Amino acid sequence: MFQRFRRTRLNSHLRALVRETTLSSDDFIYPLFIRSGEGIKKEIASMPGVFQMSIDEAIKECEVLKSLGLYSIILFGIPDVKDSVGSDALCDQGIIASAVRAIKAAHPDMFVVTDLCFCEYTDHGHCGIIDHEHQTVHNDATLELSARQAVVHAKAGADMIAPSGMMDGIIATLREALDSAGYVNLPIMSYSTKFASGYYGPFRDVAESAPSFGDRSSYQMDPANRREAIAESIADEAQGADILMVKPALAYLDIVRDIKESTSLPLAVYNVSGEYAMIKFAGMNGLIDYERVVMETMIGFKRAGADIIISYHAKEVAAILKRPKA
Ligand code: PBG
Ligand code: ZN
Repeated sequence: MFQRFRRTRLNSHLRALVRETTLSSDDFIYPLFIRSGEGIKKEIASMPGVFQMSIDEAIKECEVLKSLGLYSIILFGIPDVKDSVGSDALCDQGIIASAVRAIKAAHPDMFVVTDLCFCEYTDHGHCGIIDHEHQTVHNDATLELSARQAVVHAKAGADMIAPSGMMDGIIATLREALDSAGYVNLPIMSYSTKFASGYYGPFRDVAESAPSFGDRSSYQMDPANRREAIAESIADEAQGADILMVKPALAYLDIVRDIKESTSLPLAVYNVSGEYAMIKFAGMNGLIDYERVVMETMIGFKRAGADIIISYHAKEVAAILKRPKA
């Protein structure tokens, strides 16, 4: 039998026809950091190209995002006042509730996701209520307050709630709270597999949320554990999550693939602040071809199994995708 051992070289047309993975601006969720005030757009030193914005600026930003084909955002709030229980997050006049209302009013066609956590709102910077005796987060007390926070987001008009605190039982708690408040169709995207990571460094600058004592390793996961990582996402699927997530992304693409194969829910990756900063600063210093590395990284996430990419690069990626092909 004839066996040809030289493979046919494909031209660029055919390469495009047979490409296994593609990117679209529909794949992305873009994070926005909201603070009070007016006309404020303050760049973050550790994340060039990323800003804290007042609500009016965020509304303008959404116009730009839509023109690039980006219709999904996730909001983080920086409140004026932080206290031990994160009161700003529990109040209809708080920064996030106000931002969601204003953005949805100006842009009903934007899909607005809210990050649900307490670290940006508490004076100690932890993701929940502190159990002082044990110097750790009190899981169940945090669940109760999280349920209130979810209903605040829902009332404000959020399109999806994304709990990021890694408290045990959070998905079941939020699902029940949202259902009984009448929000039976409001989806929950769980930060289901979130590692205790050094890659969150720059985010804690932007969100002003570094813990004032200890670290988050009592509630976030050990980077060394693969089986535990899968089990955490499976548990959230069973509790009623609609979308699962792996965070950070780059050092955990094996976990993305594992969870994709062990669950049947859509999967998001969070391409976090430290990952953004590394590529950004390498690009700014001329060490890499920035756009090429960004696109290669994004395609890697999708190839690993991600359906959704949350990324500070989303705006740049959308602009690149929109360009006429050379
Ligand atoms: C808070 C939260 C964190 C991020 C999103 N929500 C960080 C943390 O645990 O300190 C990280 C995002 C990033 O680094 O870009 N629960
Ligand atoms: Zn948190």
